[in-house]
Amino acid sequence: MVTTPPHSPQPTQVTNTSPPPPPKIHADATNFSPNLTKPEAYQQLLDEVEGLCYEQRNWVCNLSNTSSLLWHLYRSLPAPASNVNWAGFYVYDHTSAPENPRLILGPFQGKVACQIINFGRGVCGTAAATQTTQLVPNVEKFPGHIACDSSSRSEIVVPIIVEGKGVVGIIDIDCTVENGFDEVDKENLEKLADFIAKSSDWP
Ligand code: SME
Repeated sequence: MVTTPPHSPQPTQVTNTSPPPPPKIHADATNFSPNLTKPEAYQQLLDEVEGLCYEQRNWVCNLSNTSSLLWHLYRSLPAPASNVNWAGFYVYDHTSAPENPRLILGPFQGKVACQIINFGRGVCGTAAATQTTQLVPNVEKFPGHIACDSSSRSEIVVPIIVEGKGVVGIIDIDCTVENGFDEVDKENLEKLADFIAKSSDWP
């Protein structure tokens, strides 16, 4: 006797009439909503950096995109952050003598800047030599501050430290008003430095 399989009812077809979401493109990562608080904006930046560094360990590529994100983050925030006029990186200069280490200009957003900074000089060189964040409310009161742009009034510099290598670079952010940065900037830029240190390959 031939048995026929029981009839299986066909699932009801659900027609989705809403259009598919637009594909996520890279430039979308730089869209910071103006309604975000500074901690929320930094969280978005950290999430975006993590996404952009996924399966990408080239330091030039990662620092370039990160400097763009930093620039757009500060642009999205109210003053004083909106007065940021330089955001980027200096990296360890491997042509420097070990007894006279130097930083060399890396990826950044903003105006043209000085190319070489000796460890121990200016805000950047002090952060590199001491391996500590320099939060400078008024650059005119910082001995040896290097004025790449005379309109800068405050600055924060965070060292990027890799275990076994030491300082591989620094994050540098400048602002055209005094007291441009606070502990929220310090805490989040230190998180960023820590993540970048681990997620990129350094020469
Ligand atoms: N002001 C820095 C120099 C770098 S620029 O700000 C981009 C310093 O004193 O080290």
